[in-house]
Amino acid sequence: MIKIAPSLLAADLADLKNELNSISDADYLHVDVMDGIFVPNIAFGLPLTTAIGRIADIPMDVHLMITHPQNYVEAFAKAGAEIITFHVESDCDIDECIAKIKACGKKPGLVINPATGPEEVLPRLKDLYMVLVMTVQPGFGGQKCKEECFDKVKALREEITRLGLDTHIEVDGGITAENAPRAIAAGADILVAGSSVFGAADRNGAIAALKGN
Ligand code: DX5
Ligand code: ZN
Repeated sequence: MIKIAPSLLAADLADLKNELNSISDADYLHVDVMDGIFVPNIAFGLPLTTAIGRIADIPMDVHLMITHPQNYVEAFAKAGAEIITFHVESDCDIDECIAKIKACGKKPGLVINPATGPEEVLPRLKDLYMVLVMTVQPGFGGQKCKEECFDKVKALREEITRLGLDTHIEVDGGITAENAPRAIAAGADILVAGSSVFGAADRNGAIAALKGN
């Protein structure tokens, strides 16, 4: 089952309720949190995530692109996140941060940037709800997908299968209906899509196209 997580970064935030209504077929709402330090951009903090959590029917997949994710896990859990992902490149104790997310009753995910290998992720697959493989340098929507990152997806999927786990693999950055089949063939089962969903006139149509329907 392929799941689609439209990225709110590409939505019209002045028309949030209608934007959320337009993606009723989505499986998750991907919320990008950026602190301007870990990535050179600032986006979506706690008040907005809390407000979105109150009006969204779709579970939130909160992607923390921040330097000290462990300090904010409880707050984003309280804001209504269902999945909380953080970067191996951030400044934190990875295992403590995973434990913290679980202690809040939320699903943990570990993120790797395009230039980062899967070494930190592989020994932790059994502890994770998902691995997020970035297919662009994080910070901005609308970039072109680095398809060479699909090789990491393939390697991770092989290991997940070998271990008999049900860990999900999400890809994020430049995902379109054109390259989605290759992400899926490599082993991704959750696709983040900002521009390709919110840039389309028919958003649920775009979601179906990403699933290959
Ligand atoms: C980039 C973000 C992505 C972004 C995806 O740093 O993590 O979630 O919003 O947008 P598109 O699909 O337009 O690349
Ligand atoms: Zn993201």
